[in-house]
Amino acid sequence: MAEATEVPKLRWKPLPGEKKVGPYEHWVGSTGLPVYRGHALQDVRTAELSWWAERECNAAFVSLQGQGSLTEGRITEIPPGKTLPPLKFGLDEIVYVVKGRGLTTTWRGDGEAKKTVEWSAHSLMLLPRNYTHQLTNTQGTESARLLHYNAFPMALGAVPDPSAFINNPDSAPGMDANEEREFFATAVAVAGRRDRAVWSGSFFPDLAVWDSLSRRESRGAAGHSVSFHFSGIPFNAHMSVFPKQTYKKTHRHGPGPFRPGALLVLVSGEGFSVMWAHDDDDAEKTIVPWQEGTVFNPPDKWWHGHYNVGLEPARYLAIQPPQVFSEHKSSSIEIQYTEEEAWVRERFESELAERGLTSLMPPEIYTDPDYRWSYRDGSG
Ligand SMILES: [Fe+2]
Repeated sequence: MAEATEVPKLRWKPLPGEKKVGPYEHWVGSTGLPVYRGHALQDVRTAELSWWAERECNAAFVSLQGQGSLTEGRITEIPPGKTLPPLKFGLDEIVYVVKGRGLTTTWRGDGEAKKTVEWSAHSLMLLPRNYTHQLTNTQGTESARLLHYNAFPMALGAVPDPSAFINNPDSAPGMDANEEREFFATAVAVAGRRDRAVWSGSFFPDLAVWDSLSRRESRGAAGHSVSFHFSGIPFNAHMSVFPKQTYKKTHRHGPGPFRPGALLVLVSGEGFSVMWAHDDDDAEKTIVPWQEGTVFNPPDKWWHGHYNVGLEPARYLAIQPPQVFSEHKSSSIEIQYTEEEAWVRERFESELAERGLTSLMPPEIYTDPDYRWSYRDGSG
């Protein structure tokens, strides 16, 4: 087993003439790894990465505009058959498996409470803070890719010392035995508000076939969703599923800040999202085409709508950071189908036509504001 690497103390204050950056940006820069910025990364499965000697893997950072420098996205590629060095990280981290198959082993202290979980493409898991974890690719011919999500930029903003969080020998999980058992449990269903499907745990085996969903009528398109809670930590995630050849209502989150910093990752499907700045009706529309493996997010308070132009239901996972500004309640404003501008439908139908498909949106939704979708598949 490889030894954990030591983290050098980093100087983050700029020298005269250097660009002034915060402690997180400075740490990212010290790794020399690529950083994906902008509004979207088209495909995490094929994105270019660089070798990270310290972690013995290829990697890159994802720091999109909508993350607001609050959350870290990071891609890890584990070479075929390889086990990465153990790593103890002082923050909770959510990991989505983009491709491949492997194992995560976690323990505390010198090897106590050791647990191993087996993952494959479309698994979602929690790496709990201050446990050591080790990642293994169990396939001998294919690399595995993971998308990590955590609040390291926020934490380093408050405590500008990476060695306080990475392989810190003095940090310990600090939880009782009951909490520990729960931390490593496979997800279980818990009672949700208003019949919402809510699952809690630290391992969700396969989001591509996850079928415990509840109806999400307010957003249109006969969509479904499920919420994922991570065993008592303040992150959460949800997955939306909506049918082929339909689109959801354009909406924005507000007026209070909607947990800026979320990341959306496409589990399956083919389509696009349209988003634009909330305070400018004439703002240029940003179109994000997507398919499995696309990562994107609408910046805080931007309008956004999701369009499925494929032959299968689309599934996207949204991972959200802790709501640290709890006095701001999140609420949504939707543009009803009867109120939307003509270009929305035109764009959707032309994208379908390019694929030899037609819209499955019921015509009544454009004239009847009280139209109720039928859930023909009987689920939810
Ligand atoms: Fe949204």
